[in-house]
Amino acid sequence: MMKDSLIYDQLQRPMRDLRISVTDRCNFRCTYCMPAEIFDRDYAFMPREQLLSFEEIERLAKVFARLGVKKIRLTGGEPLLRRDLPVLIRKLMNIDGIEDIGLTTNGVYLVKHAADLKAAGLQRVNVSLDALDDELFKKINGRGVSTKAVLKGIEAAREEGLEVKVNMVVKKGMNDHEIIPMVSCFKDKGITLRFIEFMDVGSTNGWNFKQVVSKREIYERIHAVYPLEPMEPTYFGEVAKRYRYAGTNTEVGFITSVSESFCSSCTRARISAEGKLYTCLFATKGFDLREMVRSEASDEEIAKAVTEVWNTRKDRYSDERTEETAKNRKRIEMSYIGG
Ligand code: GTP
Ligand code: 5AD
Ligand code: SF4
Ligand code: SF4
Repeated sequence: MMKDSLIYDQLQRPMRDLRISVTDRCNFRCTYCMPAEIFDRDYAFMPREQLLSFEEIERLAKVFARLGVKKIRLTGGEPLLRRDLPVLIRKLMNIDGIEDIGLTTNGVYLVKHAADLKAAGLQRVNVSLDALDDELFKKINGRGVSTKAVLKGIEAAREEGLEVKVNMVVKKGMNDHEIIPMVSCFKDKGITLRFIEFMDVGSTNGWNFKQVVSKREIYERIHAVYPLEPMEPTYFGEVAKRYRYAGTNTEVGFITSVSESFCSSCTRARISAEGKLYTCLFATKGFDLREMVRSEASDEEIAKAVTEVWNTRKDRYSDERTEETAKNRKRIEMSYIGG
């Protein structure tokens, strides 16, 4: 276990990563995340004054860095909808102890923002893309956006020197026939493609076990066409299991929350756009940091509260998942917590 981390939870897991959601809004309506019939015109997104300001995020990030966080990932919704995001990235880059900043995005606004993001110090972007087939992708994203918009975003990011990984959520009957076309496309470009098992996050996507395509199944389909070799994890608690196409340096990853959960090494804290601290993607309750930040509380007091939340943490939702827990538990939405 890492010695340089300062705080540990009940299962001896250090706090190393912080995922910060900067908005709960998105320009997509992916059927498995923000179905258009629910996230419609009347849906109550967070009013602006309820979002943490960049100054508030910076202050919290400093507190988390002092407690051992080394890595920050900005998420949404779609984080590039938040105005002046590069300003925030620059602030976060300057925090002592922060070694790595990443961004998870649907990629559409990268054409516009890649240069500014890079100039602000961003190193890496993970871009979601679930199909290459244009008609299918338009349906999945619920807004009729063409794959071209995302592919152009990926190219723009690469041209700026950002490291790009592509995330594909696989849902049975939705896009599993796109696995090999996606592999062929990104293998040729030398881009890491990661397959995400469809998860039971939120309570609007109608999840059940039958819709999950497991890592094993995806692996076997790829391996039959392009043989794969396993690779070592790049860091403790890495989310994806890594492979490479034999004889190349191009990688494939599998994010196996359902078939091979990875809670025992989960070092991630999450802050929602309105400043609630969650210690699990599947949590039901968060701790209100915004209330503290907007009160007279000192940094020490905030650090103490975060320490207490982390010290009492026992979450291992994916380890314990059953058909029953998936059905009965009320969970926060993915677009709210950022994955
Ligand atoms: P890097 O490894 O730093 O590139 O990023 P990442 O894979 O941690 O982040 P990304 O936002 O690309 O996440 C990819 C997928 O992994 C998303 O579907 C997340 O919801 C999922 N994921 C990330 N962290 C966790 C976690 O702690 N638990 C579960 N169950 N899923 C996670
Ligand atoms: N299961 C798995 N991954 C999901 N994502 C969104 N909803 C789900 C789900 N139900 C993915 C997005 C993005 C990442 C942050 O999470 O596609 O790549
Ligand atoms: Fe799709 Fe990501 Fe937006 Fe959810 S947050 S609707 S997965 S683009
Ligand atoms: Fe961590 Fe919760 Fe995901 Fe398990 S289910 S890896 S505890 S966020």
